[in-house]
Amino acid sequence: MATEDPGLAIATPAAPGPGDDGALGTHAMETAGMSVFYGSFRAVKDVSLKFRDHKITALIGPSGCGKSTVLRAFNRMNDLIPTARVEGRVLFHGNDIYEESVDPVEVRRRVGMVFQKPNPFPKSIYDNVAWGAKINGYRGDMDDLVERSLRQAALWDEVKDKLDQSGLSLSGGQQQRLCIARTIAVKPEIVLMDEPTSALDPVATLRIEELIQELKKHYTIIIVTHNMQQAARASDFTAFLNMDEDRAGQVIEFGVTAEIFTRPQRKETEDYITGRFG
Ligand SMILES: Nc1ncnc2c1ncn2[C@@H]1O[C@H](COP(=O)(O)OP(=O)(O)OP(=O)(O)O)[C@@H](O)[C@H]1O
Ligand SMILES: [Mg+2]
Repeated sequence: MATEDPGLAIATPAAPGPGDDGALGTHAMETAGMSVFYGSFRAVKDVSLKFRDHKITALIGPSGCGKSTVLRAFNRMNDLIPTARVEGRVLFHGNDIYEESVDPVEVRRRVGMVFQKPNPFPKSIYDNVAWGAKINGYRGDMDDLVERSLRQAALWDEVKDKLDQSGLSLSGGQQQRLCIARTIAVKPEIVLMDEPTSALDPVATLRIEELIQELKKHYTIIIVTHNMQQAARASDFTAFLNMDEDRAGQVIEFGVTAEIFTRPQRKETEDYITGRFG
């Protein structure tokens, strides 16, 4: 733990660095001094991060350090937890998503989320993908949108002849790609992924990792993973979070993934990525 110099622990992401090439307001998603509370418990504190457009940023750190909490703050999913409260700033294209005038439903459309466990609706493959667009009153060609989304999610060839079958009839890896298709069908700009491959076998995992590389051409991706090989392989930037004595998670180090994994600046980061704790 960074007990000897707690100030430095949060200085790294706040100072100009590899992911940080401009003032506040220049990135798709930024946080400044963000804390998230559950009741009186501060689960994460002073998170200042900037996420580059069309890049993949991995959030890593031991269980309970607040990765999912941070991710949920980015599209106001924390609103659904009655005790949760966010302090500090969370900027989407320079606008604070917690301003009173902001519609959380619109935030969630533009900042989509894929969860750890594939969670297709008990509906047809087609309806899973069309659902969000329907709700948003999409007026274009729905068949076309469904096909495009499934193609982008690298699932089209496997399901094109059975679009009316239940999404739940697919394999786990296919279900996760279906959930990705459902997320991108509403044309988000950012896709948040919370351990999207932890329920999948190695082949399905690689498939999703390849897909994520494709998706970054169109989307900004923020991914939580416990899999160090995955973070090293699949991301451009990495933020390492850890807990302090109060169990509040904070960003210990943030930078270009290759640097974090080959030349970590902080001993805690090194200990974590080499499997010495967590
Ligand atoms: N709904 C909630 N109500 C109260 N406390 C919560 C809630 N969700 C998470 N917490 C607490 O906030 C802290 C951070 O949890 P979070 O789920 O964000 O961690 P995590 O890094 O995603 O962990 P894991 O790697 O196990 O998924 C933990 O101490 C957890 O117990
Ligand atoms: Mg989590």
